[in-house]
Amino acid sequence: MLKFEDLAMQPASGFVPPSVAKEPGDPAASLRRVTVEDKKVINSKADVNQLVPVKYKWAWEKYLAACANHWMPQEINMSRDIELWKNPAGLTEDERRVVKRNLGFFVTADSLAANNIVLGTYRHITAPECRQYLLRQAFEEAIHTHAYQYIVESLDLDEAEIFNAYHEVGSIRDKDEFLVPFIDTLTDPAFKTGTPQSDQDLLKSLIVFSCLMEGLFFYVGFAQILALGRQNKMTGAAEQYMYILRDESMHCNFGIDLVNQIKLENPHLWTAAFREELQEIFRRAVELEYRYAEDTMPRGVLGLNAPMFKEYLRFIANRRCQQIGLETLYAGAQNPFPWMSEMIDLKKERNFFETRVIEYQTGGALNWE
Ligand SMILES: [Fe+2]
Ligand SMILES: [Fe+2]
Repeated sequence: MLKFEDLAMQPASGFVPPSVAKEPGDPAASLRRVTVEDKKVINSKADVNQLVPVKYKWAWEKYLAACANHWMPQEINMSRDIELWKNPAGLTEDERRVVKRNLGFFVTADSLAANNIVLGTYRHITAPECRQYLLRQAFEEAIHTHAYQYIVESLDLDEAEIFNAYHEVGSIRDKDEFLVPFIDTLTDPAFKTGTPQSDQDLLKSLIVFSCLMEGLFFYVGFAQILALGRQNKMTGAAEQYMYILRDESMHCNFGIDLVNQIKLENPHLWTAAFREELQEIFRRAVELEYRYAEDTMPRGVLGLNAPMFKEYLRFIANRRCQQIGLETLYAGAQNPFPWMSEMIDLKKERNFFETRVIEYQTGGALNWE
């Protein structure tokens, strides 16, 4: 007879053949029924196909909230952006550089994020309610790639130039090269959790992705495009970025909740040496994002300049450290862009730049008559 412990040998699908549990009253059947105590975020032996009973309500609630925030890029009218971009006097050269560098990073960044979830993270997370959110997140990453592509297409930019920027522009390439080893860890078919070393490797990759990729590397770019929008320039692109920022801040918060839950269930992973290693990785990420800020803004533009971002990135990095229980790195760093916080708290109904042409309907009822 198959014992509960044997479920550790379950196939990747998590499906357990029902040959043992024939009748609901059969004692073997009760062995099959998942309880909340069986569930763990990593290394769970419980059937991953059973969403209920829900243990991690924060994950389920984020899944519901993400679905309620649904949007699509084509809903946003880009005609004012197109007119401005085509007008030789519409934007300065520095403003155009900001837009192109921005898209150069983001057109491939969200594909990296999607692949990291689908081919990496998802396999190693054993709580079905967390997997449910990851599925939604993966779709949102597809929408983001679509949004950036839609802006490139609308402005009739050189696609090859923008989509190859992550090979050809040093400040973008360096950010991606920093991320790749952490993605490779999770997507390596031979990688398995279950030892302190591999569980730390997983945790490290999750932290890099949520706190540094989604939680830091996006923020210079977001602030720049939203600063354009605040000056009534590129308002369609700015609106796309606002919806993306709202999604990304939820991705970041979900990742942080996931990390904290893994820490709670596996306190032995959070060693002093591990925390020090993480702090070093955070410092490196702040440095890379700052270099990107310098490269995108060789001079002041839109009332912004690179030194302002040094402070902003330090402020954000401190916040991410606090959120996962690490010592902060930069004493006294302040937020020079308080308006960014308002943007992050965007409500769905708000049509900030008045560009939205369609009100998206979620959950429209079917008419059976
Ligand atoms: Fe994204
Ligand atoms: Fe994301």
